[in-house]
Amino acid sequence: MIIETERLILRTFQISDAEDVFEYLKKPQVNCFACMKLNSLEEAIKELEKRSKDKEFYFAIVLKETGKVIGEINAYPESSDLQNEGAIGDTFSPCWMLNKEFQGRGYAYESAYAFFDYLFKEKGARRIYAFTEDYNYSSQHLCEKLGMRLEGKFIEFISFVNNEDGTSRYENTLQYAILKKEWVNR
Ligand SMILES: CC(C)(COP(=O)(O)OP(=O)(O)OC[C@H]1O[C@@H](n2cnc3c(N)ncnc32)[C@H](O)[C@@H]1OP(=O)(O)O)[C@@H](O)C(=O)NCCC(=O)NCCS
Repeated sequence: MIIETERLILRTFQISDAEDVFEYLKKPQVNCFACMKLNSLEEAIKELEKRSKDKEFYFAIVLKETGKVIGEINAYPESSDLQNEGAIGDTFSPCWMLNKEFQGRGYAYESAYAFFDYLFKEKGARRIYAFTEDYNYSSQHLCEKLGMRLEGKFIEFISFVNNEDGTSRYENTLQYAILKKEWVNR
């Protein structure tokens, strides 16, 4: 699956993307992606072997002009209908990340907009929600620009890293969401 925007291509990851991915995942910028840290190019290659099998929900964000992978976006179907055990998931929670060098140029919005449109129109999405830490203003701004509503703030909701004294550091988390009917009418 390929999604094309004015400046970007969203496509399945390839093993040859390893150097570009290692560039931004050798030091994840935010705590919630700490577990995605890659310690070597070899680890990046192994990770991309896995990702290259995912053709529907995990996309590399590629700059059309140069072919460089500048980030990633993914979301997987979750079921919210407890009445129907076999129901196909219609709820998605995206993760988005850009190489620091390519932030502040509108690429996150351009790719997320196209990805949301794909989920709503082609993947049966009914609801898309996003979690973001209360200090992650660029991610909050992106949610708002996409037309997502702030639904709530969870205090000391989740821990990804430790404090200096070794105890778990709990983060305050905001939840944003948008329904298909809101997306269509925005
Ligand atoms: C969250 C994240 C993806 C947002 O990326 P970003 O670069 O800030 O967002 P955008 O690509 O939409 O760019 C925003 C700004 O680029 C600027 N810009 C420059 N050229 C532009 C262009 N041609 N078109 C549009 N915007 C442009 C605009 O000023 C825009 O700000 P505005 O929306 O106030 O107008 C990024 O900060 C990131 O990867 N962070 C680390 C990972 C992370 O935190 N993920 C989320 C975890 S919850």
